[in-house]
Amino acid sequence: MKYVLERLFDEVEALAAKEFGDAHPEIRRPPKESQAIYAIPCFRHAKTGGASPVKLAEELAAHWNAELATDSILERFQAERGYVNVFAKTSFLLEEVIGDLNRSGANYGRHPDKHKKVVVDYCSPNIAKPLTVGHLRSTIIGQSLINILRASGFETIGINFLSDWGTQFGKLLYAFSQWGDEESFIKEPVRHLVDLYVRFHKETESNPALEDEARASFMRLENGESAERELWKRFREASLKDFEGTVARLGVHFDNNWFESEFEAKAHDLIDSLLREGIAERSEGAVIVRTGEDDSVPPLVARKSDGTTLYASRDLASALVRIERWKPAKLLYVVATEQNLHFSNLAKVLSTMGYPDCLEHIRFGMVSLPSGKMSTREGRVVYLDELLDEAERRAEEIIKEKNPEMTEGDRKEVARKVGIGAVVYADLSQDRIKDIVFDWQKMLSFEGNSAPYLQYAAVRCKKIMQKAEPVEREPLKNLNRGDIAHLVNGLMDEESKELLLHLGRFPHAITEAAERYSPHVLAGYLYDLATSFSRFYTNLQVLKSDTETRKARLLLVKATGDILEQGLKLLGIETPDEM
Ligand code: ARG
Repeated sequence: MKYVLERLFDEVEALAAKEFGDAHPEIRRPPKESQAIYAIPCFRHAKTGGASPVKLAEELAAHWNAELATDSILERFQAERGYVNVFAKTSFLLEEVIGDLNRSGANYGRHPDKHKKVVVDYCSPNIAKPLTVGHLRSTIIGQSLINILRASGFETIGINFLSDWGTQFGKLLYAFSQWGDEESFIKEPVRHLVDLYVRFHKETESNPALEDEARASFMRLENGESAERELWKRFREASLKDFEGTVARLGVHFDNNWFESEFEAKAHDLIDSLLREGIAERSEGAVIVRTGEDDSVPPLVARKSDGTTLYASRDLASALVRIERWKPAKLLYVVATEQNLHFSNLAKVLSTMGYPDCLEHIRFGMVSLPSGKMSTREGRVVYLDELLDEAERRAEEIIKEKNPEMTEGDRKEVARKVGIGAVVYADLSQDRIKDIVFDWQKMLSFEGNSAPYLQYAAVRCKKIMQKAEPVEREPLKNLNRGDIAHLVNGLMDEESKELLLHLGRFPHAITEAAERYSPHVLAGYLYDLATSFSRFYTNLQVLKSDTETRKARLLLVKATGDILEQGLKLLGIETPDEM
């Protein structure tokens, strides 16, 4: 069963589709001040027909008004400068929104199963290197996409694809044999490995021969020598455990941890079959796959002239395993924009192999920190754990100031939710394509577009509900048609109407965020909801109003609190009980 605003959207879309001969005509949401629910732009169709958009809109509005059935949820059409604005019957619409809330309960906003799978590759760090803020973005965006896709009816499979192969492991193996310290490695494995990596690069400055040692170590690893293999496996295991501990703080858990090295053999098989099929070709001893019409587009190098595979070919092999195993509708890769070329090459090869439109690179911009760009080699590293500690510490200070009575234990727990939530929200509230700059002040502000602001609004709703009588605390259960009509009568002031209508948009915000792979759509929706609630609560009485109005308004408070909490959860943010 669809939610009311979706049904309305379908109805509007069908009208426009019939008129324009286009299965998915553009339907817009009118500006906030407008009372219209949707707007149909007529420009494109007018242009192809050689008519004026203003005229066309007027004709259509008149035509649709004349045809409108009396029992339709639509009320009227109105032309406005090339658009047809669509108005719905307000009380009818509001009743339907309450009906949806009443029917769906805790599942409000979720969509029925689509019977389609989506594989999401996210986090995917490099073994023996610390998680960078770039991996932080991938993890946060990836996890929220998984949550949002699930809510919109997809089955999701998450993969953390760990890069555990390449010449840098020769460096590490050598460095560990020279300067490794068991105790430090056991205590803080990734940190120790990073220190060794940095030291290796320092020492090569005065002793370039170390590079040869590293190459020799990597060769022994490639040849499967047991000492190197054992040590490398230990690096891998310890790093993975370290990563898992960090991302757990973000509420993230991976369905699958895959290691890149395990796709070497498959990559070789794949390259051979691509050669047989004429998709790949030999070039100067290497094997390449052309990805453009001419040489201006760099090809995908599948095998080096020394016979080894590369990141691209191992990634391609692993993409095919994902396709064969799950037959997904989409393969998503949440990876920084820097890897554009890598993924556009993979997509082209997959398309040549018969899987067009399958791979989707969910790219995102860079993060800059006050301390500047990071470099593992030079030891300028920001450890994610430290960043999250800092967020919690700063949040705790603010809470101490705002709520000095809170016990230390409670305060720490609230600070965890607020601090981590602030980091997550600062990322997800912006279009992922953009670069982001960390700004502690803005991130932890209780006003403006931040996690604490949204969490605070949700907490306020909870507090109001606690002050209501026990019998009033579940205003959305077992309502019949008559109850609902009665409730809507108590909500005909502007603030309540606006808020209730906004509650009705939650399901669509989830769909849109899923379709565009853009959590910021949902974040923006929640921010608007919080501001709409704030207007409602500033201008109107809730607990002090007369019995009937109080009942109706409590319903809005309860639904707003629930949706804020559920919506934040989809972004990967927890809501505290108090703040
Ligand atoms: N490990 C790579 C990096 O840190 C990202 C891997 C992304 N996933 C993939 N399947 N290629 O840059």
